[in-house]
Amino acid sequence: MPKSISAQVLPACLRSVLIIRGGISMTKPSAKSELIEVSSNPLTFHLHNSQVSYVLGVEDENILAHHYYGKAVDHYSNLRRYPRLMRHFAPSPEDIETRDFSLSTLPQEFPGAGGADYREPGIVVQFPNGSRTVNFTYDSYTISDGKPQLAGLPATFAQEYEAQTLTVKLVESDAQLELYLSYTIFRDLPVITRSTRVKNLGQQPVQVQRLVSFSLDSPDNELNLLQLNGRYAQERNVTIEPLNTGIKILDSKRGASGHTQNPFCALIDPHATEFSGEVFGFCLVYSGSHKSIIQMDGYNQVRIQMGINDQNFEWWLEPQKSFQSPEAVLVHSEQGLNSMSQSFHELFLNHLMKSKYSHQTRPILLNNWEATYFNFDEKKLQDIIASSHDLGIEMFVLDDGWFGERDAPNSSLGDWVVDRKKLPNGLKPLSDYCHNLDMKFGLWFEPEMISVKSKLYQNHPDWVLEVPGQRRSIDRSQFVLNLGRAEVRDYLLERMSYIIEHADLDYIKWDMNRNMTEVYDAKLSASEQGEVSHRYILGLYDLLERLTDKYPDILFESCSGGGGRYDAGMLYYMPQTWTSDNTDAIARLKIQYGTSLVYPVVSMGAHVSAVPNEQTGRMTPLRTRGLVASSGDLGYELNPLNLLENERQEVKLQVKWYKAHRRLIQFGKLYRLQNPFETTRAAWMFVSDDKKEAVAMYFNIFSEASSPLHMLNFVGLDPSQKYSINGKYTAYGSELMQIGIYPLTQNDGDFDSAVFELKAVE
Ligand code: GLA
Repeated sequence: MPKSISAQVLPACLRSVLIIRGGISMTKPSAKSELIEVSSNPLTFHLHNSQVSYVLGVEDENILAHHYYGKAVDHYSNLRRYPRLMRHFAPSPEDIETRDFSLSTLPQEFPGAGGADYREPGIVVQFPNGSRTVNFTYDSYTISDGKPQLAGLPATFAQEYEAQTLTVKLVESDAQLELYLSYTIFRDLPVITRSTRVKNLGQQPVQVQRLVSFSLDSPDNELNLLQLNGRYAQERNVTIEPLNTGIKILDSKRGASGHTQNPFCALIDPHATEFSGEVFGFCLVYSGSHKSIIQMDGYNQVRIQMGINDQNFEWWLEPQKSFQSPEAVLVHSEQGLNSMSQSFHELFLNHLMKSKYSHQTRPILLNNWEATYFNFDEKKLQDIIASSHDLGIEMFVLDDGWFGERDAPNSSLGDWVVDRKKLPNGLKPLSDYCHNLDMKFGLWFEPEMISVKSKLYQNHPDWVLEVPGQRRSIDRSQFVLNLGRAEVRDYLLERMSYIIEHADLDYIKWDMNRNMTEVYDAKLSASEQGEVSHRYILGLYDLLERLTDKYPDILFESCSGGGGRYDAGMLYYMPQTWTSDNTDAIARLKIQYGTSLVYPVVSMGAHVSAVPNEQTGRMTPLRTRGLVASSGDLGYELNPLNLLENERQEVKLQVKWYKAHRRLIQFGKLYRLQNPFETTRAAWMFVSDDKKEAVAMYFNIFSEASSPLHMLNFVGLDPSQKYSINGKYTAYGSELMQIGIYPLTQNDGDFDSAVFELKAVE
């Protein structure tokens, strides 16, 4: 049982402090726990470890105010208590009528709606009388060791000794609502996670129309906004812009986190670099429609909020029922973006990815999609498997086209039965063939979709997400199954279980190739239609929970037309993601650079494909394709039988090299050295925890005549350690970091690359 300090069990003298208005001087003892310090007079909570501090406190009128979030301080002496300043057009609570205390300017932990705060609300609830005014005040708190899980939602987890959680209860007594704000601080990471739960204590249902996962106010600050946007096959572009007065919204209304806007953003010092400057990163653990609101008011105060997208969202809350928001992860870095990324990576690896594979090195795979598309039979696949085995590849993945009558993308989704025309003996002989070669066997599914040309559609046309009687939108010839319905999930679990067991699968690629439209469920009432999109995501999580629990030995890779659902929610269940359908090595430099801002290297599927590249038509050297793909979970997506002999030899060497460096790359510390969004070069390196070993990769995107002498400075090494570089020469860490090396020699062509292996020597 987690140790817990609750307001109810505190001595009576201290309990009285919990409900008293701030500003009244009282001498009371402080309740202190290791990571969360509670002071009275006025009641203040200081969450801190050696890296980060987060402070909130109870203000006049029992308003829960935000004080500070940033670099750790050992003590907090209430310096950020909001100064009483006279403001015009700033209403105050009627009973304290004053012109120097108003919600319209006060930094709050969780702003209500319809009152004096004209900025973005954290919650919007419609009450039976039609009112949407709701303002919460402080009630009590609890502190517990570890971190409670969120019912029905993926979230970070921690052992009792790894984190502590503060839950602050706010009440809206007029409206009979309770709000629980949850804050977890991790002991060894500059990380705070937040989430929100609202409970209806009234006699009648109310409708929640917005509930953000967190809201954070900061005083006058000059900040830039960094976001990851994109499109299909060009995901997670890094965009940085100055914040200005007004509201900036970053969102997805697609029913998926989406290719176009990752549920992540950061507020950064305008001078921040990869290795310097203050950075605040925010990431939502959710795979559906999301929204980040960044608002700067006339006083240059910034409010940032993240949560489920409130467009077309409404959730009925029956009496005594709660609604739980997804979790948001807040990472602070005082040393630039790279350090923020390392914190996200560490958190996700140790406290989010629940798969048993999260810490295991991942097999080098060959995927037959770009090799055969739908055109294969057992013999062709066996030849590909045998040839892959000869190259040293460890797993064969049979992609789309093995089921129903799937010869084109317009049929059979939902019919998860082997196509006996292509594979008369089923999947088992292929799986056995792999296993006999000591290779693993993986399979592609697209469980959330349905083709009109399918038996499933004939039997269950009503399982489609649609508005009956209204024109539907079709994409890639397919419709979305309504995963909000239990019978749909049960069908998928039964079908997938059958295939998993009969084909003896080791791996599943879980694809999802279109986004939601006509979001409607005829089985729900008219007033419940705003719940459909979120119910779908809860249904998806329920199915993933059951499937991954039932088959813990299966390695799952998530995919959505490449990286269209690359988010922390999916990572909770599936420890790797197909980063992008774009396998062009040069395009991948940006895609993988942007992805690595948040998501660990070992979560990134990266494949070498044939040239000219399918998506861009570009010709790139096999060496560069190999190095770019070796910057994630290496795989091949080509027909090995089509390789020339010299290419086969090169691929064999790539595979051998990757095996020798795989643990370092997949689990070492990543340092991004040169940014392909800013220059015509890219470079990054992976350093072992003990700093005895490192690998750096350098990519010359476009060559120049009379090229300037571009240097490559390493990072993260031990300054006093001597390293050998590619076994050719030696230098000390301090030199390699301060002075650097010339990474390429002469006449390096477009798309050329170089790799540097650093090993500690005596
Ligand atoms: C999506 C995936 C690809 C491939 C195809 C198969 O586009 O991203 O990797 O699996 O579907 O149809």
